[in-house]
Amino acid sequence: MTTQPRPRRSALYMPGSNARALEKAATLDVDCLLLDLEDAVAPDAKDMARTQIAEAVSARPYGNREVVIRINGLETPWGEDDLAAAVKANPDAILVPKVNGPADLQMVAHKLSLLGASADLKLWAMMETPLAMLNAAAIGACGLDPAVRLSCFVMGTNDLAKETRARLTPGRAAMTPWLMTCVAAARAGGIDILDGVYNAFQDEEGFAAECAQGVDMGMDGKTLIHPKQIAPCHAAFSPSEEEVAWARKINSLFDEPENAGKGAIQVDGKMVERLHADMGKRVIAIADAIAART
Ligand code: COA
Ligand code: MG
Repeated sequence: MTTQPRPRRSALYMPGSNARALEKAATLDVDCLLLDLEDAVAPDAKDMARTQIAEAVSARPYGNREVVIRINGLETPWGEDDLAAAVKANPDAILVPKVNGPADLQMVAHKLSLLGASADLKLWAMMETPLAMLNAAAIGACGLDPAVRLSCFVMGTNDLAKETRARLTPGRAAMTPWLMTCVAAARAGGIDILDGVYNAFQDEEGFAAECAQGVDMGMDGKTLIHPKQIAPCHAAFSPSEEEVAWARKINSLFDEPENAGKGAIQVDGKMVERLHADMGKRVIAIADAIAART
């Protein structure tokens, strides 16, 4: 079965305790909403945030934006209640924090079936602990097991910096091996991956540079903390007109009878193989999906 790729260029976090943000989310041109019960919510506000998110999601105001609830870990005092409330509200996915290995996701998936979760409800995994970096392949492989429902990795670079003591510097030299390991693990598991947040949301130049780096790394999109990051993020992660035109051109060339038996052809002085045409098909599908939603 081939599934239509879904654009996940932008995923905006918002604290579940912030009613204004939950309301504003319904007006923002963003691909995914990450409604947070975890790090962005103080312990005293956890119960209020859970109720507020459950009400907001149940009212279905978010149109075709992909709605994801980030719960607290099941080992915390709030995790079980978060999971039950999320299942009831039935978003597109539940984002599990601080995943260390496949067993963490298998456990959540098992609880989802006990709670009678909708078959369409997916799991997303925060990749943000030292163990997750070491177990990335095994966690990504959960994407191959439909019972685990895993469909996306989210890089948690702030937690990763905290836990490893590696520094988040411009260019992210220290983080790059982990980011790329997670890209490989995601692809091996057939799932998407979103880059970490850029904390300095007033720094437009730094943000654009980090988006461009994420595109080069093969990230499907980036997690965001402020609405002003959405437009530059889309500019970086949407296929450009030139990319789409090139993808269409090489696909139509391979469709021509004279190229039917060829594995590689020359186009504008470059070698083009059928694998490039396949890559182009994905670019076209993403561009079409973006055009269809706006
Ligand atoms: N989601 C939705 N709306 C948001 C938002 C977000 N993440 N961040 C800001 N806004 C809204 C504000 O409500 C405000 O709306 P309004 O003027 O129409 O009422 C507008 O955007 C401008 O906000 P601004 O004053 O620039 O920001 P702030 O000082 O209120 O908030 C942060 C700054 C960083 C506290 C806030 O952006 C935030 O909470 N971000 C998400 C943090 C998070 O979830 N972290 C967890 C994962 S890393
Ligand atoms: Mg975190």
